[in-house]
Amino acid sequence: MSTHHTALVAVGHAGPSLLTRSLPAVVAPDPVPVVSGALVEYAPLDHAASTPALESVVRAVATATRTYSSVHRGTGWLSRVTSAHYEAARDEVARFVGARADDLVVLVRTTTEATNLLARALPPGTPVVVFDTEHHASLLPWPAAATHRLPVPASPEEALGRLGSTLAGLAGGPTPLVVVTGASNVTGELWPVERVVTVARRHGARVLLDAAQLVAHRPVDLTALDVDWVAFSGHKLHAPYGAGALVGRADWLDAAEPHLAGGGASAAVSADGVTWATGAARHEGGSPNVLGAVALAAACAALRTHRAAVEAHEARLGARLLEGLAGIPGVRVHSVFGADHPRVPVAAFTVDGLDSHLVAAALSAEHGIGVRAGKFCAHRLVDALLARDGDGAVTAVRASAGLATTDEHVERLLAAVAALAADGPGVEYVEEPGRGWVPADDPRDLDVPLPW
Ligand SMILES: Cc1ncc(COP(=O)(O)O)c(C=O)c1O
Repeated sequence: MSTHHTALVAVGHAGPSLLTRSLPAVVAPDPVPVVSGALVEYAPLDHAASTPALESVVRAVATATRTYSSVHRGTGWLSRVTSAHYEAARDEVARFVGARADDLVVLVRTTTEATNLLARALPPGTPVVVFDTEHHASLLPWPAAATHRLPVPASPEEALGRLGSTLAGLAGGPTPLVVVTGASNVTGELWPVERVVTVARRHGARVLLDAAQLVAHRPVDLTALDVDWVAFSGHKLHAPYGAGALVGRADWLDAAEPHLAGGGASAAVSADGVTWATGAARHEGGSPNVLGAVALAAACAALRTHRAAVEAHEARLGARLLEGLAGIPGVRVHSVFGADHPRVPVAAFTVDGLDSHLVAAALSAEHGIGVRAGKFCAHRLVDALLARDGDGAVTAVRASAGLATTDEHVERLLAAVAALAADGPGVEYVEEPGRGWVPADDPRDLDVPLPW
């Protein structure tokens, strides 16, 4: 285990207690139909896309709904309660990521919105250094002319070397921004964030940590890591109510144009012009998503409390997932830094001779397993990994475990992938425009009942 990994685990760790020995409960889905006509327990192996809600999150939202009213816009008692919920949620998010006292917590929708907000707040001419390994949310928002894209590295040392020489070449210019992910959304591998920060600081650069894939699995401490900003999404943190956060240094954000011009972002408007609000409000124009904020805070609180149990659960699942897939003849597991590099419980793999979309379709239709196939909004990385060792594959399958995944789900996946690799799908599939691979003969009623 690298020092980077150890430090991330140790920082902000809730000490052992009765609570931390148990996993927080997630909302359990109803059984799902498979192509045989049976109903089976759903095997959620797509946590890297979106995570099921925690029961405590749903409860918190239900409670806050009872007093729901306007935020910062009313004098009624319920407005006071709701405004207090919103600001307390902000405080909980700050605590969750170890924010410094003067950091801003801007409540946004998603990581994508957070990175775009920071991109628009960069002082003119700010050079941005980013690896091709990034999710498009962290790869694309930056001004093209000032962006330095570094190729997918083969080792942390290569990454740090390239980063150092690129930053050295920017010496004397405006303060650069380094954008780095905490954990890859494709391979789950942990980036050496502390070492990236050390190199960045040596060259006077700032750092944005894309923690979208990290916060559900590992503690993140902005202060201890000495990172300038962190971005993450509630829907990847068991809080799928439309809120995420950008947390970090105030100066660039305070100097920037408001993210959304309008009410809330403006302090005063007269015939002469507008005075924009300062602090987080400047970038939270419009009525805030208070229930999303409550959900996000409830998830942060639960994850902080149960960290030790979550990590133990996921370490076991992740190890079995990786070792099991790697042991199946005809299956290739892809990685940036190598099979032994520390990671969250995510695996990207290909099955020789089978389209990854067909593999994912068969896992769902025949086994009730939810995974994802494709390039996972990280085209540069997936193309590079498959060019390295993909044996002609152009897309991959990603299995990502988490709180809602059990040992049985992982074993079911491994058995299903082994059967697919050995014998192909168990039923016939056809590729249909707009729908992808579907069973040629499907007895299921595919109409989804609407929840309202
Ligand atoms: C590493 C990483 N960054 C950013 C994002 C974008 O997150 P969102 O879709 O919530 O904006 C994702 C989503 O998959 C991700 O995995």
